[in-house]
Amino acid sequence: SVPSRPRTAEEIGALRERFDDDHHRPGYHLSTPANWLNDPNGVVQWNGRYHVFYQYNPGGPYHDTIHWGHAVSDDLVHWEDEPVALTPSPDGPDRDGCWSGCAVDDDGRATILYTGGRARDQLPCLATTDDPDLRSWEKDVDNPIIEDLPTDVDLLATEDWEGEFRDHCVWQDDGTWYQLIGAGLADGGGVVLLYESADLRDWTYRGPILSGDRDTPQETVWECPELLDLGDRQLLHVSNYEDVVYFLGEFDGDRFDPDHRDKLDHGDYYAPQSLRADDGRVLTWGWVPEARDVSAQWDAGWSGTMSLPRELSLAEDDRLRQRPARELTELRGDHEHHEGIALEGSETRWLDTESRFFELAGRFSLVDADALELTVLASPDGTERTPIRYTRDDLLEVHRDRSSTDPRATQGSQHMRVTPYDEPLDLRLFVDGSVVEIFANERHCLTSRVYPTDDDAVGINVSAVGGRVQIPDLDVWELDSVW
Ligand code: FRU
Repeated sequence: SVPSRPRTAEEIGALRERFDDDHHRPGYHLSTPANWLNDPNGVVQWNGRYHVFYQYNPGGPYHDTIHWGHAVSDDLVHWEDEPVALTPSPDGPDRDGCWSGCAVDDDGRATILYTGGRARDQLPCLATTDDPDLRSWEKDVDNPIIEDLPTDVDLLATEDWEGEFRDHCVWQDDGTWYQLIGAGLADGGGVVLLYESADLRDWTYRGPILSGDRDTPQETVWECPELLDLGDRQLLHVSNYEDVVYFLGEFDGDRFDPDHRDKLDHGDYYAPQSLRADDGRVLTWGWVPEARDVSAQWDAGWSGTMSLPRELSLAEDDRLRQRPARELTELRGDHEHHEGIALEGSETRWLDTESRFFELAGRFSLVDADALELTVLASPDGTERTPIRYTRDDLLEVHRDRSSTDPRATQGSQHMRVTPYDEPLDLRLFVDGSVVEIFANERHCLTSRVYPTDDDAVGINVSAVGGRVQIPDLDVWELDSVW
């Protein structure tokens, strides 16, 4: 029997089995064993192992009484469930929830800073551990470590909150600790606030490093800010309730000066967080929320998954490069390979592979076609299908109107621009139950959620729209489950 509030690794692992027959469950994306998951937190490589904590409600598949769930991996590919790492303290400043935060190495001791929620307050809290497995954490007796909102900036107060002020990015430079906190300004616009400290406990407010556009409705608050040093340039990203916006530019210690703005992902993706791996790579996970209504999430018994780990770096032209962590090729199983596929007019070619757990990699060129369509999760009669369309105006679109016959699944299309590139378009696509995660030209990402109901909605085909299409290489691998 399944305990109502499972807490040990074994109890938690047992929950996973309940979903063995759920064909929407991701097999190789990091997911919660059951119930609710949102942001990745405290991601860190510690003693060689990768730890991903996450916003977790053990009580059900909805956002409430947030704990920190925990998963660990030796290879970035296979994950094990760990016991719940942080639980709200009934009398603590995190009584209503242990919200998002990050992990740092404080001279050999793992330390996390996170947001504690209680009544109308959301304030920074700290916890440490000497446990090499990062399982049990001791909360600081002086929590919250920042007790008041900064006074020399007017933060947005709402019916629910004293001030919109939460989430943490912390790093050390030359013996001093720096912290970013996400916030909203009273007169409009999201903002990223900078603090400084000698010991991670006493913090001095320094000021805003960047603030957003007060005229854009969804930009009222910037959540989950993160600053990443990509070498020649820095990347700052924030989540604005809608999208993850990133800025490339320069951080001079006080202000961030952006010269390029885009989205980290153009689909269902939010509140990402990164670690610096021992080998120097920046690896990022984002929360991939559901795109079906609450009743469907309730029926499923689980909600939310993580993106694949993505490696972020600067490309030769100083723009952002994003690619799936190279370790993921270890998942590759049965393989289908094609060279030189040429399609005419409205010709369609079905692949041999039938799967809802696969990776597809290919190069695609519109010879004189208006578009090409790569269709996944297609039922034999086409009742359910998800076409991914690459058009002559350099758009990649995911069309969800026919993805599912379940009216509770979100419809409509998502799209992104896939320039710059040298013909042909280079695509890597990961399908995992209800997740479609796309990397175009190792730069642009679009993650989409789709929920075909038919067990036979496992077909893959490519077709040309209004002209000829060339596909010099096309590979499909079935991927194993990692749990
Ligand atoms: C982002 C967020 C954070 C907050 C957490 C609460 O999704 O709203 O701002 O810390 O989730 O779960």
